Amino acid sequence: MYSTKIKGVGHFVPDNVVTNDDLSKIMDTSDEWIQERTGIQERRWIEDGSDENTASMGAKAARKAIENAGLTKDDIDFIIFATLSPDYFFPGSGVLIQDMLDMPTIGAVDIRNQCSGLVYSISIADQFIKTGMYKNILVIGSEYHSGALDKTTRGRGLAVLFGDGAGALVLSRSEDPSKGILSTHLHSQGEHAEVLTVKTPSIRHWVPAIIAAGEEDTSYHPFMDGQKVFKHAIVRFSEAIDEGLEANKLTAEDIDLFIPHQANLRITQFVQRRFKLSDDQVFSNIQKYGNTTAASIAIAMSEANEQGKMKDGDLVVLAAFGSGFTWGSVVIRW
Ligand code: UT7
Repeated sequence: MYSTKIKGVGHFVPDNVVTNDDLSKIMDTSDEWIQERTGIQERRWIEDGSDENTASMGAKAARKAIENAGLTKDDIDFIIFATLSPDYFFPGSGVLIQDMLDMPTIGAVDIRNQCSGLVYSISIADQFIKTGMYKNILVIGSEYHSGALDKTTRGRGLAVLFGDGAGALVLSRSEDPSKGILSTHLHSQGEHAEVLTVKTPSIRHWVPAIIAAGEEDTSYHPFMDGQKVFKHAIVRFSEAIDEGLEANKLTAEDIDLFIPHQANLRITQFVQRRFKLSDDQVFSNIQKYGNTTAASIAIAMSEANEQGKMKDGDLVVLAAFGSGFTWGSVVIRW
């Protein structure tokens, strides 16, 4: 069996910065409310009329990750792409990115696990690499939230939370079992599928039905029971981290850097306290980007790498929780 090393990281976010004060001009909200409840100060939203989209941002992040890995596009054997905001109903955006990157006929798969999409994608890539099936896999998370948010007071509970952006990783074969991905743990609980969802357009409720229902039908905007998500998130984040540490006979004291899915700074702070981690041991950039769901961990890893926060031999722990519900963790020896 081989082991899996994260060889390259990269990210891309649109230039357009939207501050909390900008939002308070288009809906009934305030910088104070948003910062107090979420820690978010600003986010990036693709500018109206721009050609940017989910796949194009993913491709830009992917190019940076491939360069950072010291590889070329021809070294990549497979693409795993995670998003909840795909360009099309079908095909998935993974193949669009493959085309944008001018890659040969390698396989590409889309993962639909929302905020946990990157953790799931890393785990799947890890299995393919360990068994020797592939040598270098591109894992990408990209989200274009701003196109689907209800940017009125009616949608403020969600609109202020989410941002656009993409992050990418290159996972590569390694022969050193002491380094790389030590474990991944994945979970889901579909009984809570309706708690955080965009329900339409879907085969159950197709476009003519939405048009016929008129303005009353808001099912094409995201819906969330925020408090329920929050309560489950703090429990599941902690469980997933415990599970990863125990599987490797490690404790929280061994963690050099915890990179959580950037859901809410309050959730991250709760987990930080639960594991008695110092500020230096936790990476947060939700303040600048909001929640970029499947992209958030990859963007955070890319920035942490730029800031020299992941050093050779460091123990890096990733964890995510989100819609589905789905959650999981990844333990890495960098
Ligand atoms: O990535 C994983 C998925 N998402 C999450 O992890 C999110 C988890 N949940 C949360 O982070 C929090 O539940 C939120 C930040 C989304 C909301 O915070 P909350 O403390 O749970 O607020 P709430 O939804 O209970 O709303 C409290 C009040 C309500 O007003 P009333 O009924 O008390 O008068 C809302 O209408 O705040 C109001 N409100 C707002 N006010 C100003 C909701 N959104 C806003 C807003 N600005 N943007």
